[in-house]
Amino acid sequence: MRRKVTVVGAGNVGASCALRIADRGLADVTLVDVIEGVPQGKALDILEASPIRKADVEVVGSNDYAPTANSDIVVLTAGFPRKPGMSRDDLLWANYEIVKSSVEQAAKFSPDSILIIVTNPLDAMCHVALHSSTFPKNRVIGMAGVLDTARFRTFVAQALDVSVEDVVAFVMGGHGDSMVPLVRYSSVAGIPLTDLMGAETIAAIVQRTRQGGAEIVKYLKTGSAYYAPSAAVADMAEAILGNRKRVLPCSALLEGEYGIRNLFVGVPVKLGAKGVEKIFEAKLTEEEIAALQKSAAAVNELVDVMKPKLGPVKASAGGR
Ligand code: NAI
Ligand code: 2OP
Repeated sequence: MRRKVTVVGAGNVGASCALRIADRGLADVTLVDVIEGVPQGKALDILEASPIRKADVEVVGSNDYAPTANSDIVVLTAGFPRKPGMSRDDLLWANYEIVKSSVEQAAKFSPDSILIIVTNPLDAMCHVALHSSTFPKNRVIGMAGVLDTARFRTFVAQALDVSVEDVVAFVMGGHGDSMVPLVRYSSVAGIPLTDLMGAETIAAIVQRTRQGGAEIVKYLKTGSAYYAPSAAVADMAEAILGNRKRVLPCSALLEGEYGIRNLFVGVPVKLGAKGVEKIFEAKLTEEEIAALQKSAAAVNELVDVMKPKLGPVKASAGGR
């Protein structure tokens, strides 16, 4: 039986996700948006590339959730992107309602699905998705680390003039300016980054990674990045659909790992058919722990603001 992925939000990120998933032949895709005609038109356009991509996948667009029924994965991209001068956090309330209502409807039609959240502010929106779906925590996953790590790897590969394929990097923490690119765990084919680059170059790459989203927003002016974000979503979907057990940095609900409780934060996870199958706890130095806690505190500030609406964290440990 063919697998099925619903992408909610047929804007820049959503449509690009649909295209990448179809192009890789990963699953049938249902694209949902509130704007009449847009998901239908984009889905048909993607479908019409089928003979060229040589993949027999169905791609349909819809303004309601009935066609999304029994999806394996629901990717949530509905919501506003930021404009120059805005932080991701400025999107909190505008996107809260959109994520809440979209997740409630998607979960009703696909109660066994795995949610990949993309909408910003990412880690806070994962909390909204967890509450609105009442899914177990392993089935609510935020996409950010795969993107942030890809940016870090790109900049390292450029600086050293080596293939991106051989650059290994890890970025932890919330998807914001205080994210924590872990230099100590970054290497080129196993050679520590610190053996290959000076401290100043590394610091510049770390800073550019932290500002990676803003750098694109500054160029685009009317929106934010979508090509690299959609590639990151496709990798996560592939890991889940193929039960690949890939180890990828994702936003996951922590319940004591790294000393953090009841908070979605980016950490290395094992991604397979059950969603987040394991959270890996890398040994961190005191300095790294402090940086991670600072980043988690920034996520917590947003979650605190939402608490009167969200109520206590509902995390059940059940699998699918
Ligand atoms: P966009 O504006 O191009 O698309 C958003 C789409 O959502 C629009 O088509 C809009 O009609 C739709 N929408 C709004 N309310 C809806 C609802 N209730 N149901 C269904 N669809 C609805 O924005 P873009 O660039 O696609 O970004 C989407 C979100 O993803 C933003 O919040 C952005 O900040 C975030 N993002 C997060 C990344 C990450 O690393 N986590 C990376 C890139 C974007
Ligand atoms: C990014 O990092 C907008 O969060 C998005 O590009």
